[in-house]
Amino acid sequence: MCGIVGFSSLNKSAVGPLVNGLRRLEYRGYDSAGVALESQDGIKVYKQTGKVAELDKLLSHALPESERGKYTIGIAHTRWATHGLPTRANAHPHVADNGNLALVHNGIIENYAALRSGLEKRGIKFLSQTDTEVLAHLVATFDKGDFLVAVSEALKHVEGTYGIATISARHPGEMIVARKGSPLVIGVGEKDIVVASDVSAIVAYTHQVIYLKDGDIARITPDGIDVRSLDNSPVTREMQEVDWDIGSIEKGGYEHFMLKEIFEQPDALANTIRGRLDPSGGTAFLSGLSLSPRELAAVGRVVIIGCGTSLHAGMVGKYLFENLADIPTSPEQAAEFRYSNPIVGPNDWVIALSQSGETADTLAAVRESIRKGALVSGLCNVVGSTIAREAGRGVYLHAGPEISVASTKAFTAQVIALLMTALKLGRTRRLSFEHGDRLVKEIQRIPEIIKEVLAENDAIAKVAEKYASADDMFFIGRGILYPAALEGALKIKEVAYVHAEGYQAAELKHGPIALLSEKTPVVALLADIPGKEKTLGNVQECRARHAPVIGIVTKGDEAAAAAVTDALVVPHASPEIAPIVSVVALQLLAYHVARLRGCEIDQPRNLAKSVTVE
Ligand code: F6R
Repeated sequence: MCGIVGFSSLNKSAVGPLVNGLRRLEYRGYDSAGVALESQDGIKVYKQTGKVAELDKLLSHALPESERGKYTIGIAHTRWATHGLPTRANAHPHVADNGNLALVHNGIIENYAALRSGLEKRGIKFLSQTDTEVLAHLVATFDKGDFLVAVSEALKHVEGTYGIATISARHPGEMIVARKGSPLVIGVGEKDIVVASDVSAIVAYTHQVIYLKDGDIARITPDGIDVRSLDNSPVTREMQEVDWDIGSIEKGGYEHFMLKEIFEQPDALANTIRGRLDPSGGTAFLSGLSLSPRELAAVGRVVIIGCGTSLHAGMVGKYLFENLADIPTSPEQAAEFRYSNPIVGPNDWVIALSQSGETADTLAAVRESIRKGALVSGLCNVVGSTIAREAGRGVYLHAGPEISVASTKAFTAQVIALLMTALKLGRTRRLSFEHGDRLVKEIQRIPEIIKEVLAENDAIAKVAEKYASADDMFFIGRGILYPAALEGALKIKEVAYVHAEGYQAAELKHGPIALLSEKTPVVALLADIPGKEKTLGNVQECRARHAPVIGIVTKGDEAAAAAVTDALVVPHASPEIAPIVSVVALQLLAYHVARLRGCEIDQPRNLAKSVTVE
């Protein structure tokens, strides 16, 4: 949520790298953007509403190439509004000290109102409605000659979360960055230093990075980085190598990142699976979990926490853990969980699911579970993310960067990671070698099965044409396919702006059926799982109310194909894999409907990829 970039070089212009960095981070927020550039003449700020492309246009008029070389240090921001409308005045960077200081911020200053009124009483005039501007003035107020100390002192007065970068004409050549609750990574190149909210804005320059931790503050100059704690004690942070390459964060010939990421799933999932299956034992190795068979055997309950798509993956997890490991499992929406005074303790295994590893509610739920003594693991995609680090033990998805705001490959990778975890847990309990062996073989086949779903892309696009003008849709599924129905509805809502609701197939007749008509297509998940025949009955109920039904049906299932208005055919898969197979088809359906409706697929309105505020 909100993207920050900073660039510091001895001799290279900061303008291009800052704008490029913002483009990479645009998925984090895209309602306005801005840069602050430092030269010997002081600090210049350029801000624009709308996307980064609008800022780029502004810069190309305001700042000719011939002038850009003098700005070798700068900070930049792409915003997802929290306090105040997405106007130019509310766009970052915010300035203080008569324009001598500029600051960008990701996060929320919770006590900003009290701080602001204190500053206003001292005669400071505010230009925006943001919480961030308070921080800029606070830093300027504390500046008695040492920039890092001024920022530390200001931050000591702040309650809330922040990732910040700030520059000051009073301290030429210095950039101060700090984090608490919002991610910040420093990329260390041979001659340049790049700071960003995540590594996707860094890998074009370097693969050597330092992940700042909460409470860290760093002074960055073109030739060095000095990391400290807020009380100014030196802190050592290891340099790490990032293995994402630049190709993995570009569109690679696809029209949208969403489509690219849907099509990447065979490879992405092969990476999630690689090295984690043990065919000789009919089980999985998940060394990151660092739980002995004895500890696993002692687990009394699994709680899976997440938000949005990750929560849907967690809901699939319930079926997997309960059926394979015979263990009661509750999927919980992370925000509800954290505020419900959850009853968890040493015999409970809390598994946090998060693509970004930065979702504020999921992180808070992890912290609450750790406080209560539960075993906690993270299943995250972004390496080095806060949840991955704080959970202490866990499994990386290795699905590669997900840039499209709508999550696709992370969902399927999460389900596979949960399936392998359930398999491992099951094999320490009652699951037989034969059953484990069958599942290992099925998991090995997943990348090929997904290729078969993707081969249906054109057929799915054709069906999408027929329904692209619908404004309301229902998605129904039963058992392990119910969360897949929720995920299908979520995808089409967020990328195609179609009002859609996911229901347990049996629940439709308890009220929502009143809304069905020839104008409300129903998507029925009819892959081969126990209970499919019952869902076919529900399909008949829908058709009897004139609702057209799009069925996700298994290849060769003539009865299911005949029961629906339009069939999207998917390959045969075992029930444990059925949600993955069905959701890939639903991702393509949502994508094509969105394309036909002319939507901004990779950056849907009002959304942001990484929700780092509550
Ligand atoms: C939907 C989507 C969101 C995220 C949710 C959690 O396509 O992307 O619903 O799934 O915000 O994000 P993570 O997984 O990063 O914790």
